[in-house]
Amino acid sequence: MNQPLFRAPRGTFDLIPPRGEAVLAVREAMAEPLSRAGFGYVETPSFEDTQLFVRGVGESTDVVTKEMYSFTTRGGDDVTLRPEGTAPVVRAALENGLHRGALPVKLWYSGSFYRYERPQKGRYRHFSQVGAETLGTEDPASDAEVIVLAMDAYRALGLTGVRLVINSLGSDESRPAYRAALQDFLRRLDLDDATAKRVEVNPLRVLDDKRPEIQAALADAPVIADFLSKGDRAHHDAVRTLLADAGVAFDDDPRLVRGLDYYTRTLFEFIHDGLGAAQSAIGGGGRYDGLAELIGGPRLPSVGWALGVDRTLLAIEAEGLPLPGTAGVDVYAVPLGEAAAARLFGVVTELRRAGVRADLAVGGRGLKGAMKAADRSGAQVAIVVGERDLADGVAQVKDLGTGDQRPVPLADLVTTLSAALDS
Ligand code: HAM
Repeated sequence: MNQPLFRAPRGTFDLIPPRGEAVLAVREAMAEPLSRAGFGYVETPSFEDTQLFVRGVGESTDVVTKEMYSFTTRGGDDVTLRPEGTAPVVRAALENGLHRGALPVKLWYSGSFYRYERPQKGRYRHFSQVGAETLGTEDPASDAEVIVLAMDAYRALGLTGVRLVINSLGSDESRPAYRAALQDFLRRLDLDDATAKRVEVNPLRVLDDKRPEIQAALADAPVIADFLSKGDRAHHDAVRTLLADAGVAFDDDPRLVRGLDYYTRTLFEFIHDGLGAAQSAIGGGGRYDGLAELIGGPRLPSVGWALGVDRTLLAIEAEGLPLPGTAGVDVYAVPLGEAAAARLFGVVTELRRAGVRADLAVGGRGLKGAMKAADRSGAQVAIVVGERDLADGVAQVKDLGTGDQRPVPLADLVTTLSAALDS
């Protein structure tokens, strides 16, 4: 009996060419402004102690209560596939003593993240982020710096429809009074038991409730902006001024809260309207001055973001831009016969070593099939070598755009082609 064909698990997908190359190009475009700005690359494990996320991300967040892939190992350790990268990066910085060196420490990362979400376009159970974290400074310049670098990455990708929305959640100076006022307001609403409980435990989470009836009931809820302390207000104004000076447009969204509990002060999201309302955030981040303490470290005020690679690619497609990073090869070699195949194998190797993107027809296909493959490869030039050519010491070099063909001595091929493709 035939085995049933396996499929990728629900909420996951395979990246195959040309989208595979496009994802690489998106990651590169996100990383480039960061390395230009002095961010160093970090990698942390794909799984961590479950408590890192429970304490770091927050016990009452959707991420922790509903979306974690958690399991007990054979050795009895409780671990979780990372749903996000900020708590792990802070954990790694503390564990490696980076906070005891020169501050701030600027770090970036790129990788896979896992959340047990309801799968839909732009919302997956396995997804990819590029993240940036600036650890160990309260300077509003660092908030503005990371935001500008994200906008630069989107611009480099050709995206024109990215909107930046920002808010301040205030610090410990502002939060208690706001929390009390919000609870006061929420307690007067007719809420289901679970939501009413959330009002007592973590009222800010209620603001993030996406149900339309809850959003409608929240229309007159107090906003944090009216409760910001002098220091928090000054910080927020400084960030806004720096962004404006850098030519980065933004909208204030006094209701923006985001789904993770560690945020303090600056909060922001990059929105693209081409993806559908529930997945419109193609990136987001904020300041998290208390996170290091929550996971057992000293105070380490920090700010950062993560950009969704998959959603950014969807945004590129929604804008009708060509897929990035899908150039293919420049030269396609077509040998006719075994001796020609051996010779062209050497030529293609040399071309590649000289920096030319080149491919070779294998499997002894006939001329017709191989020329079709040459066309599909995107190459500008095909090199065809038959037995007679070999005897004459030449290759037929065909311009696949114009169809022009001319013989070129085999000995000169690499120099001739590298020069022609350079110009
Ligand atoms: P986040 O908003 O949870 O923040 O995720 C950042 C981005 O990752 C989202 O804007 C979205 O583009 C993408 N993303 C999240 N979940 C999914 C999913 N299920 N499928 C596809 N894409 C998704 C964080 O993760 C924070 N660690 C960001 C941060 C860094 N804050 C401070 N530093």
